[in-house]
Amino acid sequence: MQVVKYMFQPHGDDRGQLISLEEYNDIPFRIKRVYYMYDTVADVVRGHHAHKKLQQILVCVHGSCKIRLDNGKEKKVVALEKPYEGLYVSNNMWREMFDFSEDAVLMVFASEVYDESDYIRDYDEFLKFVREHPEEKKENEG
Ligand code: TYD
Repeated sequence: MQVVKYMFQPHGDDRGQLISLEEYNDIPFRIKRVYYMYDTVADVVRGHHAHKKLQQILVCVHGSCKIRLDNGKEKKVVALEKPYEGLYVSNNMWREMFDFSEDAVLMVFASEVYDESDYIRDYDEFLKFVREHPEEKKENEG
């Protein structure tokens, strides 16, 4: 599995840092939704699902956390610890977010609006879905 991390360009000067993210330029899809998680309780594991269609870029804009990616064949853990790095998470990818620092703010840029019918929340159903949809492989599925 190829992990796709984006390194965003900070516009830094003696006042500090600024990052700007534009759809199609910095984020590889049209951004239809942004959401973020904060005040995550210690030792909590979030996620535990995949999406049939949704693509996302995850940015830990403050603090740190880890993301476990699982394409049904292979698993990888990716640490997000810098506000200038973004992790691309394709559809057909089981994800778990964990090891949140107390101050972590995890921001997600999503290619679709919220749609519960796009979620696969059962792991066995996910394995069946990826077996039946091999043609929908995206760049970080290797
Ligand atoms: P949930 O799917 O449990 O989050 P996670 O993937 O981090 O485990 O979502 C938590 C709640 O927020 C749930 O009631 C659904 C709601 N929600 C929205 O209303 N819109 C959204 O864009 C998202 C991601 C969640």
